[in-house]
Amino acid sequence: MSSPARRSSLLLLLLILYQQIGRSFASKVQWTTCQPGEFTTNITIQCATLQVPLDYSSSSDKNDNNTNKMIDLHLVRIPALVQPSKGSIQLNFGGPGEPTRETAVALGPLLQVGTGTTIPFVCTKDAFTVGQILDEVGRSSLESDTAERRLWERARVDADICAQSGNGNETGPYIGTAYVARDMMRVAEALDEDGMLRYWGFSYGTTLGATLAAMFPDRIDRMVIDGVQNPHEYYHAQADFEEWTDSDAVFSYFFSSCLTAAPGRCALATLNKTAAQLEKDTWEFIESLRQAPIPAGSILIDMGAFKNFIIGELKFAGGWPDLSALLSVLVYGTPQEKVRVLEAIVDEASKTQQLGPSSFDVVASLWGIHCGDRTVRLGSFEAQQKDGVFSRLYKTSRLVGDVVTQITAHCAQWPWHARETYSGDFRIRTKNPILVASNLRDSHTPLKSALNVSAGFEGSGLLQVNGTGHATLNVPSVCGFLATVAYWVNGTLPKLGQVCQAPHPFDPYTWADVLTQVTGTNTTTSQKRALHPRWWR
Ligand SMILES: *[C@@H]1O[C@H](CO)[C@@H](O)[C@H](O)[C@H]1NC(C)=O
Ligand SMILES: *[C@@H]1O[C@H](CO)[C@@H](O)[C@H](O)[C@H]1NC(C)=O
Ligand SMILES: *[C@@H]1O[C@H](CO)[C@@H](O)[C@H](O)[C@H]1NC(C)=O
Ligand SMILES: *[C@@H]1O[C@H](CO)[C@@H](O)[C@H](O)[C@H]1NC(C)=O
Ligand SMILES: *[C@@H]1O[C@H](CO)[C@@H](O)[C@H](O)[C@H]1NC(C)=O
Ligand SMILES: *[C@@H]1O[C@H](CO)[C@@H](O)[C@H](O)[C@H]1NC(C)=O
Ligand SMILES: *[C@@H]1O[C@H](CO)[C@@H](O)[C@H](O)[C@H]1NC(C)=O
Ligand SMILES: *[C@@H]1O[C@H](CO)[C@@H](O)[C@H](O)[C@H]1NC(C)=O
Repeated sequence: MSSPARRSSLLLLLLILYQQIGRSFASKVQWTTCQPGEFTTNITIQCATLQVPLDYSSSSDKNDNNTNKMIDLHLVRIPALVQPSKGSIQLNFGGPGEPTRETAVALGPLLQVGTGTTIPFVCTKDAFTVGQILDEVGRSSLESDTAERRLWERARVDADICAQSGNGNETGPYIGTAYVARDMMRVAEALDEDGMLRYWGFSYGTTLGATLAAMFPDRIDRMVIDGVQNPHEYYHAQADFEEWTDSDAVFSYFFSSCLTAAPGRCALATLNKTAAQLEKDTWEFIESLRQAPIPAGSILIDMGAFKNFIIGELKFAGGWPDLSALLSVLVYGTPQEKVRVLEAIVDEASKTQQLGPSSFDVVASLWGIHCGDRTVRLGSFEAQQKDGVFSRLYKTSRLVGDVVTQITAHCAQWPWHARETYSGDFRIRTKNPILVASNLRDSHTPLKSALNVSAGFEGSGLLQVNGTGHATLNVPSVCGFLATVAYWVNGTLPKLGQVCQAPHPFDPYTWADVLTQVTGTNTTTSQKRALHPRWWR
């Protein structure tokens, strides 16, 4: 490795089914087989590294130690099944700071993709300190009447830790989104193609996409951003307020759609209660955890922990039959039954490493990237109260508001800024139109934000799917699939105002069924495995 820092990145190269692009550039990327054991997959994948500058804005000043310092981007690609391909697509699955390469390879049978990722930023490696930080992560600021202040001061401690141990000082300013965008253009140039960018981004990856499109409008060939954040707020607001606009509505929809589900698909539907009663009873259970958190195995389930669980479950309606079964026990079961179910959740979560120290890198990367990108700070807890930042979050969403005060407090007190942030207004015409995609019911990234971004990019298309979940990739629909393929292959945009219909959220319908319907052949077992899991945030 050529430097102490590797930038959080993202780069997935999806070689899809089109003809080769005519012009040929000298390739600077040498693809080879990946290290044995690096990925668990049966599909063909290739790996490469590409050197990019650590600091794009470093001067030629001899006193600037970062001049000419290079870092390695780690790339993976998955060749298209049908060759020759029309070009590579770089991917980002959100977070920010999620392990893109692993996600891409796991999804390979669906997307036939490749990626590079590096999470470089080390806040601290001290096990005791990590344990202390994680113990507080995920708490609700409404847990008690002293919780807000506690969470604020804890965020101060965490920010100081990141500044003073680990490699925060060296890497922190260099892991922002604008530099990642520049890395991606370097990748586009280094591939043996036309130098244009093809990009597919989800969730935070839509902020990256909007930034790419705004910084390099003339270099955009195709771009799909799906599950859209409001990038204005990501950079310039005290919190990502708009992101949670529809969270409570989606939570309510979970109960109302339960009652219209096919028989046997929703356990709560058998209780002879209205949707409003089910929701009210569930809220009573959530609030009861404030008074009486429940010990479950190695974990104490308090209100924040349980809300975080629910928030995660709202992203993917494929899990709603299971969620309804869990809630029917948690809300209406005996105390012994409740503990048994919570232990099962904890067990499952620890298997998928959603809890525990292994996720600290992801937490710290999220702070490092988002907080470094954020341009505003708050000097004190009192300043936060005066601006009403937390209370505006509570008003935006009862379910989410008190849980995301945490990241808000970290960013408000973060010790450094990214060396470069895109400072424009995201109003621009790209060389080729981008496609903005959203579900009508997304608990994490509401349609409202997709409309906001789409309004800024002149000529952009809008794909709306009448489904429930985080991004259209989480909602299997033939119409959404065909619209996405038509864009990638022909650049065709959906008709103005067109809405794709999707199955009922409790229906057992997956992408495997979509592929079967579209291609007329059954999907293989390994394709099915890749298509089913909830694979990203
Ligand atoms: C790879 O193939 C083997 C044999 O067909 C199978 O047992 C295994 O589960 C496959 N692994 C993955 C990750 O698909
Ligand atoms: C460059 O590195 C030297 C030695 O490590 C250090 O003394 C100096 O402060 C650094 N300069 C900058 C601008 O970081
Ligand atoms: C990190 O930078 C800050 C501000 O420049 C400085 O006060 C602190 O001592 C630095 N920490 C380390 C470990 O270099
Ligand atoms: C369902 O609830 C309604 C109103 O609470 C009640 O009148 C009815 O008897 C209940 N039906 C069953 C099968 O329990
Ligand atoms: C997009 O969102 C930003 C921040 O909330 C707002 O200032 C701007 O007016 C919005 N633009 C449109 C077209 O809605
Ligand atoms: C979305 O789907 C629901 C349920 O099928 C339907 O009632 C509603 O009209 C649809 N909305 C749009 C905008 O197509
Ligand atoms: C692309 O356009 C061609 C010509 O109009 C058409 O035949 C083809 O079906 C389109 N492909 C997709 C995937 O929409
Ligand atoms: C597809 O799978 C179904 C159910 O498993 C089976 O009945 C059908 O014969 C399969 N079709 C093909 C073309 O393999």
